[in-house]
Amino acid sequence: RQHVALIPAAGVGARMAAGSPKQYLAIGAKPMLRHTVDAFLSSPLIAHTYVVVSADDPFIDGVLPDAKEQGSRVTVLRCGGATRMESIRNGLHALRDVIGAQDRVLVHDAARPGLNATLIERLIVETGDHAAGGLLALPVVDTVKRRDADRVATVPRDGLWLSQTPQMFSYALLCRALDAALDPAAITDDASAVEALGLAPRLVEGHPCNLKVTLPSDIRIAEMYLALDST
Ligand code: C5P
Repeated sequence: RQHVALIPAAGVGARMAAGSPKQYLAIGAKPMLRHTVDAFLSSPLIAHTYVVVSADDPFIDGVLPDAKEQGSRVTVLRCGGATRMESIRNGLHALRDVIGAQDRVLVHDAARPGLNATLIERLIVETGDHAAGGLLALPVVDTVKRRDADRVATVPRDGLWLSQTPQMFSYALLCRALDAALDPAAITDDASAVEALGLAPRLVEGHPCNLKVTLPSDIRIAEMYLALDST
């Protein structure tokens, strides 16, 4: 049974308001997507990494390490869709003859460049054979408020976690969950599609360095974590 990474990278990064999609913005000396792919290449537990981009993506060439450098462990799939979920579904479909039903797929957002081999190993080891899979997540430490119209209430933070990626499931379960998703807009991560089947994915403690770069200011934070990691 092998572990493979699937990186949806077909978004346009509207909230970043930059000239190119955010996965191609520089974080330190490298494009964000290159950091993300390098994290998987640095893990001996990952057999192969697949990157989903849109069919007409003009940026991907030259961003990834060449075949000699990466030992042919990265493949670009030009089958991105209109939503994150569609990009993942298309990627899974393209791999139906390549990946076994019980192989494990680690879905990871291109926009989380601070991932590292330690976190990948923790997810794989702690999720183990759990049938519902698992994901990196962070326990909520702040006090949480909910505002409804003019009412404000404090939500007890016990048991609340913030979902990160990678999220790891068997190929068969992930396909089943995403195919069954009735309201794609309600599926903001892959685990929620698995939860909708009545299953409970394992929560594995992630790390703040694995933040999702969403706003321009996040780039500086990601650079800070990556600089810490390399010293
Ligand atoms: O925009 P957001 O940060 O939520 O996107 C999460 C991930 O999903 C990013 O890596 C983005 O490139 C990817 N995505 C995609 N196809 C889309 C939209 C987003 O692969 N149509």
